[in-house]
Amino acid sequence: MGTVPPHAFRGPDLSGSPFSQGARVEPVTILAIAASPRRSGNSERLLDEALAAATSLGARASKAWLCEFAIAPCVECGRCAGVGRCTVEDDFQHFYPQFMAVDRIILASPVFFMGISAQAKALIDRCQCLWERKYRLKQRIGNRGNIERKGYLIASAGSGLPGSFDCSRKVVQAFYRTLDMEFDGDVCVNNVNDKGDIDSRPEALHAAYELGLRAATP
Ligand SMILES: Cc1cc2nc3c(=O)[nH]c(=O)nc-3n(C[C@H](O)[C@H](O)[C@H](O)COP(=O)(O)O)c2cc1C
Repeated sequence: MGTVPPHAFRGPDLSGSPFSQGARVEPVTILAIAASPRRSGNSERLLDEALAAATSLGARASKAWLCEFAIAPCVECGRCAGVGRCTVEDDFQHFYPQFMAVDRIILASPVFFMGISAQAKALIDRCQCLWERKYRLKQRIGNRGNIERKGYLIASAGSGLPGSFDCSRKVVQAFYRTLDMEFDGDVCVNNVNDKGDIDSRPEALHAAYELGLRAATP
């Protein structure tokens, strides 16, 4: 596992013990993943709106800047089969316990060539170990209490092309299905290309805020 710069995570450690004891935990815990390589870009601005809303309702949230983590693509070594854990020791190992523990995930990504960012795809592909755990080992994903696990997508695209978010949605839905999380909605915003374009889209920022409120609701 690499050394993650301290600024790569902001917020509490959400992989802690109350979850592993299967206890009902208040408040809702949220892992927010900023998956754009451009810091404070359009997708991250939307994510921050969602987080502001969620924390205003008392959610316990942690935010990760994905480009600060060294996460190699899945090499299809097969070593996770029968184990349900990825044996590649890089920064993915910071995410694994949180994926098992949190109540909600909000993934925010730009659209790159009609899909999610490479950083987001690498993270998701490494969850093949969780696929093995769920489908082959028939083990439960998530060590929460009785709170429903849910996942959300925030995405921004420069063009207004129809279908710009179709691929991102499909990938992210498969990700949440593997994590035993219900896909509970998205905010996908077209026609925001340059950094800061999103600031002139109050309706989109409002939609992200609403998404954050929903995510924070048990
Ligand atoms: C490598 C790359 C690929 C892109 N591909 C698309 C695309 O397929 N469709 C699109 O509408 N916009 C595309 N864009 C534009 C971004 O989706 C857009 O600028 C987005 O708002 C960036 O979000 P961010 O500021 O959070 O990084 C691309 C941008 C880059 C840098």
